[in-house]
Amino acid sequence: MISLLKSIASGTEYPLDDIRFTSDSGELLDVVHDIDALKKQNNLTKEYFSNKRSTVNGQPSGGVWHFKELVMPSLAEHEIVSKQEGNTRLYRSKKISAWLGLQKEKFFLKHEGENPTGSFKDRGMTVAISMAKHLKQKAVSCASTGNTSASLAAYASEAELPGLVLIPKGNVAVGKISQALAYGTKTLVVNGDFDDCMRMIREAQEKLSAYPLNSINPFRLEGQKTIMWEILMQLNWNVPDWFVFPGGNLGNTSAFGKALYEARQLGWIDRMPRFAVIQAEGASPFYKAFKNNFAALKPEKAETIATAIKIGAPVNYTKAVRALKWTNGIVESVTDEEILEAKAVVDAAGIGAEPASCASAAGIKKLIARGEIKPNETVVGLLTGNILKDPQVIVDYHFNRKTPYANPPHDIEATIDDLKRFL
Ligand code: F0G
Repeated sequence: MISLLKSIASGTEYPLDDIRFTSDSGELLDVVHDIDALKKQNNLTKEYFSNKRSTVNGQPSGGVWHFKELVMPSLAEHEIVSKQEGNTRLYRSKKISAWLGLQKEKFFLKHEGENPTGSFKDRGMTVAISMAKHLKQKAVSCASTGNTSASLAAYASEAELPGLVLIPKGNVAVGKISQALAYGTKTLVVNGDFDDCMRMIREAQEKLSAYPLNSINPFRLEGQKTIMWEILMQLNWNVPDWFVFPGGNLGNTSAFGKALYEARQLGWIDRMPRFAVIQAEGASPFYKAFKNNFAALKPEKAETIATAIKIGAPVNYTKAVRALKWTNGIVESVTDEEILEAKAVVDAAGIGAEPASCASAAGIKKLIARGEIKPNETVVGLLTGNILKDPQVIVDYHFNRKTPYANPPHDIEATIDDLKRFL
């Protein structure tokens, strides 16, 4: 078999087509591809991917399926449900690098909010929903702080599969819940938090035949790996010193670690960037575990304005710890105030992203102040979701805050005289 499922600690193997998300003893599963065998079919060098022109079902693709050979080699092209995920921009910004105190040539922001439904989730969703169809699943489900539900809803509709999403009551940004409703998925508002929703999905997994598309599904992470590979390709395969991104359920942390591990195995890179995972202070179980040398994960009641990462019991914890070990990584936490200031700066640079995404910029600022990131180092930050996902936070900030970054609107009379005051 070219690909199989393998439990991350014991190494127990299962066929790729087994409908399972953990080993018999409850460990998380990796998708493992036989890279040596794949290399015999194609010369999978970095030059091969830099020069390749990829298509999916007759359309130019790039993005996730540009790396199909290393994402899901056994899937037939006609089984792929894709909306052209990925191929997102790597921004440079004079304004943001000046605010951070980094050199503008050496600071980049990868904008995953430019995906079809406005977040990085689409990268994982295209792979997992294609596999759901391949595995002849009759319905798909997820727990979500919002973006996964928006993505699932769009892809389930396109794949003509019934979808079921569980979201925590009062804690999902308006842009995201709008998407879930509009794309026509069954949306269940749970009287509980995200961790309750996730627990229900895990419990229901065997009893309901609704295939889970959360990041506990290892196929999701295969798609999310391509964020890392695309960045490396955009940087001409030069490895940055730091890669900084927000952490919630820790799917990205796990996927990016695997991407780099495989990039090394493939001979694309000869050193690892260091990871800095940023959590919101009120939802920081991974940060606290890191501070405690990963002795244990203590689930907590999460609270933050960045609702996307309002998670107290991350399901991918063990994979994320492994990723930090591979990359000599660190975890930092930032306050909601720090997130909001960073967001105001990222937004005013004309780039813009939702609150959780801007934890990246807030974290970089803090790590520079602490001397952990040096001003002359190359840093890539990840923006995970689109600015329009959470308009309420923006309106509240600019209407009500008295900070140098607030940009409140002004009421004027319908006269040129009144207009002149602003020219
Ligand atoms: N940023 C955004 C915008 C997110 O929506 C999420 C997760 C994260 C960061 C954290 O990523 O879980 O891989 O560590 N959102 C999930 C959801 C949980 O349901 O949409 P992670």
